[in-house]
Amino acid sequence: MARIWVFHGPNLNLLGLREPEHYGTRTLAEINQDMLGTAHQKGINVECRQTNHEGDLIDWIQDLTPDDFLILNPGAWTHTSYAIRDAIGGVKVPTLEVHLSNIHAREAFRANSVIAPVCIGQISGLGAEGYVLAMRYAIDYQLRRNK
Ligand code: DQA
Repeated sequence: MARIWVFHGPNLNLLGLREPEHYGTRTLAEINQDMLGTAHQKGINVECRQTNHEGDLIDWIQDLTPDDFLILNPGAWTHTSYAIRDAIGGVKVPTLEVHLSNIHAREAFRANSVIAPVCIGQISGLGAEGYVLAMRYAIDYQLRRNK
């Protein structure tokens, strides 16, 4: 059964406590809950996961099927991980990159995403609301595909 997956990368388990000036005060559990509410109303299957281990994320991406959709915040791997980029490129699952902060308005190293070229697009700087918008897009995408 097709699913919308939400994968959160390293340190995002600390949301709520971690640098609230950049990432806001909502916890990861609250952010996931906001997204699930939107999807369940439409009868769509969603699963959210977080990991601090790059290999786990690569395994999860490899296990996706082409009719799935991925919402991904790769955290700091955004700027470094060719392995995650290659995994997404390999499975060809439509992927939307999400960042709470505006990665283009912070330190220079954050402005480059090595993941973005294999994604449909990127939402960056809209805080927790960015995830809800991403979920809305993912739902429309999946409903359009299944017509
Ligand atoms: C982040 C931005 C990254 O640069 C940072 O390493 C994170 C969070 C964001 O959501 O704004 O861990 O992906």
